Amino acid sequence: MADAGAGDGAEFAGRMIHMVNEAMLALMVSVGHRTGLFDIMATMPPATSAEIAAKAALDERYVREWLAAMTTGRIIDHDGATGVFSLPADHSAWLTRAAGPDNIAVEAQFVGLLARVEDQVVDCFRHGGGVPYSAFPNFQALMAEDSGAVHDARLISVTLPLVPGLTARLEQGIDVADVGCGSGHAINLMAGAFPRSRFAGFDVSDAGLAAARAEAASKRLANVRFEKRDAARLGETAQFDFITTFDAVHDQARPDLVLAGIANALRPGGVYLCVDVRASSTLSENLSHPLGPFFYTISCMHCMTVSLAEGGLGLGTMWGRQKALEMLSDAGFTSVDVSHVDGDIANAYFVATKD
Ligand SMILES: C[S@@+](CC[C@H](N)C(=O)[O-])C[C@H]1O[C@@H](n2cnc3c(N)ncnc32)[C@H](O)[C@@H]1O
Repeated sequence: MADAGAGDGAEFAGRMIHMVNEAMLALMVSVGHRTGLFDIMATMPPATSAEIAAKAALDERYVREWLAAMTTGRIIDHDGATGVFSLPADHSAWLTRAAGPDNIAVEAQFVGLLARVEDQVVDCFRHGGGVPYSAFPNFQALMAEDSGAVHDARLISVTLPLVPGLTARLEQGIDVADVGCGSGHAINLMAGAFPRSRFAGFDVSDAGLAAARAEAASKRLANVRFEKRDAARLGETAQFDFITTFDAVHDQARPDLVLAGIANALRPGGVYLCVDVRASSTLSENLSHPLGPFFYTISCMHCMTVSLAEGGLGLGTMWGRQKALEMLSDAGFTSVDVSHVDGDIANAYFVATKD
């Protein structure tokens, strides 16, 4: 008799078939995002593949095959009698650029990004080590797209007010740093919103820093600078009043040194806002995490492996609240409040201060 806990074998087989279908669909959703097909279909009445391809300026044969995958995947509606296709409004609300941070098609792009390093990761399973950041050529652009939509929607109005009194201090004029700033959109947004404050972004990525500087120049921001700097060797003492990291601790080679460096870089009364993946440090407490397999996979195929590639700690994306609190304490922070934001299932917000 089958183990009741393991469930019925046929049911599990069905789930596995569903899994491979959904995995393929994720790749096609990514294609739909990159080609702009969702955005275009959201503005069109029901149309044939030829009409959609013409409007999108894409090859009709490819568009037709994509529409077939979308139709069988129940993402796009198809009328077999007339041959037209349509994107339902309640689907476009989650698949178009107009949806901002709700656009899940952006996340689907991680499937293709991670698949590029599958061979190297399999090799690491056999021999240890890691896959370096340089093996992910599109990472900065995708990360910027992913986090940029969230920052546009929430950074100034929701995230910064999580720190008591911060907005008023930013308006008066303080020194701010974003460590692991990537393409710099968060700190550029802050620099634009608070012209009396001074902002610095630190990262090791040339692509990220170039994008950050280009955006600052295009916005004519005179109060922000970007520096190539290893976050584990920040080397600043009492220079900043407010320091942020957005999704930039768990994939560090030495997150312990990064956190200690941030604590050291804060002036008395300074605040550190660490925005990082919302999870428990205990696997069994993550069973109902809405993005559990997504984050553990991103960890194995990116965040953990880039850390291990540098001989680092390999903390992993799902390092979790308990581990974060332990490491913040070890770094010298004496008070840490953990907040969550409505509608943000991915992040925890650690507001840390020291005596
Ligand atoms: C997951 S990304 C987050 C980027 C950005 N904060 C955002 O939310 O879009 C992590 C960032 O940490 C940077 N990083 C990794 N190791 C670093 C190090 N040792 N020093 C500085 N930055 C580092 C990466 O280049 C990358 O830009």
